[in-house]
Amino acid sequence: MDSTTTAQLQAWDKRHVWHPFTQMQDWEGEEPIVIVKGEGSWLIDSDGNRYLDGVASMWTNVHGHCRTELNEALKAQVDRLEHSTLLGLAGEQSILLARRLARITPPGLDRFFYSDNGSTAMEVAVKMAYQYQAHRGRPERSRFITFKNAYHGDTLGAVSVGGIDIYHATFRPLMFETVQAPSPYCYRCELGCSDRAACGMKCIEALDALMIEHAATCAGLVIEPLIQGAGGMIVQPPGFLRRVRELCDRHGLLMIADEVATGFGRTGRMFACEHEEVTPDIMALSKGIAAGYLPLAVTVTNEEVYGAFLGEYAQLKTFFHGHTFTGNPLACAIALKSLDLFESDRLLDALQPKIELLRERLARLSGLTHVGDVRQCGLAAGVELVADKGIRQPYPWEERIGIRVCHEARKQGIFSRPLGNTVVIFPPLAIGLEELHLLVDGLERSIRTVTGD
Ligand SMILES: Cc1ncc(COP(=O)(O)O)c(C=O)c1O
Repeated sequence: MDSTTTAQLQAWDKRHVWHPFTQMQDWEGEEPIVIVKGEGSWLIDSDGNRYLDGVASMWTNVHGHCRTELNEALKAQVDRLEHSTLLGLAGEQSILLARRLARITPPGLDRFFYSDNGSTAMEVAVKMAYQYQAHRGRPERSRFITFKNAYHGDTLGAVSVGGIDIYHATFRPLMFETVQAPSPYCYRCELGCSDRAACGMKCIEALDALMIEHAATCAGLVIEPLIQGAGGMIVQPPGFLRRVRELCDRHGLLMIADEVATGFGRTGRMFACEHEEVTPDIMALSKGIAAGYLPLAVTVTNEEVYGAFLGEYAQLKTFFHGHTFTGNPLACAIALKSLDLFESDRLLDALQPKIELLRERLARLSGLTHVGDVRQCGLAAGVELVADKGIRQPYPWEERIGIRVCHEARKQGIFSRPLGNTVVIFPPLAIGLEELHLLVDGLERSIRTVTGD
């Protein structure tokens, strides 16, 4: 593709496309990279430049871009059926996928409600939990316990259960009320804890106290298991998730696990909940489910929740919720093929050396003058940059240090997207060890350049 065409695409983009989470005034002053191709862990722009996909195309990509087997599965399905509705009809691919997923989701989670993105999966979870409580004769249980720093998506229900002020505060007048618990953020903890374990315990004590006070008016608790992604890759101390499960049981709350980002291998196991042998009552899955190819999500629950919705039609126990593209056959066919590849590539086993390598590389990064904290959970990591390491003083957000590092990284052939002052490492799970080195090398050079290390 010649440069004139690139220039035209850039101009048309600026004229017509409103980008998510983007200050468009800045964007209009930049020369956006226009991606036209993908190959394995790489994205290729309209001028033929290659970028290592350091954020797995918004945390979705699993087996690399344009993987032959997935492309073939998509082509085969599109020649059979592109879409038909699940409202009043069943679909071959959505049936096969639900059956297959039931074999790998935590025990007892085998009732699948399809939608098409992470936010809708969470909207479904929240509405399902509330309606469940109402059907069981507890309509006063209408609120949710949520966590500070949490992110569950951008639709209004998902925003209501979120806890990141910079994204969510503007919409407060539109949101429903929740009970917000502290979350363990050991590096910059507001509870004044001495270490990770102490931080976890303090948060659990605070959560217990909140539940004692509010559980009678709450339907459930919403949590990102093991790691809060968009909040800054904030990793919970070991045992935290299990204790949250215990508290939910003690106080009669449904536990909703948002595995939209963690599901499908990201943490080193298929689902994050497995690390602590936790079975939530409701689990939301999206992103990696269709390997980064197509929008797909499921909200999965157990027989107890599902059963509460059964009754005569006139009892109006029906779950009145649904999306046009629910259970789309193309996306389900890809998801099925992706699960085949998990097995044939022994992907979860192959992840372990990559996770180990990332751990070693992060340990080295933590020695840099302006790296305050490094956090890792499986093949997801955050490198928090600080102005003064000694006193853990953050860079002022206006300095946009994370964005500047990512802009610098592009010159090194790396595409990354920060979370505030935290540089994110979240590559396709199929990334090679050499590529992982390249990714961390490029980010390290960029951090050194921008922070003047
Ligand atoms: C944990 C979690 N939940 C929900 C979402 C929302 O997913 P989507 O952007 O597909 O609506 C995200 C997106 O990053 C997420 O990380």
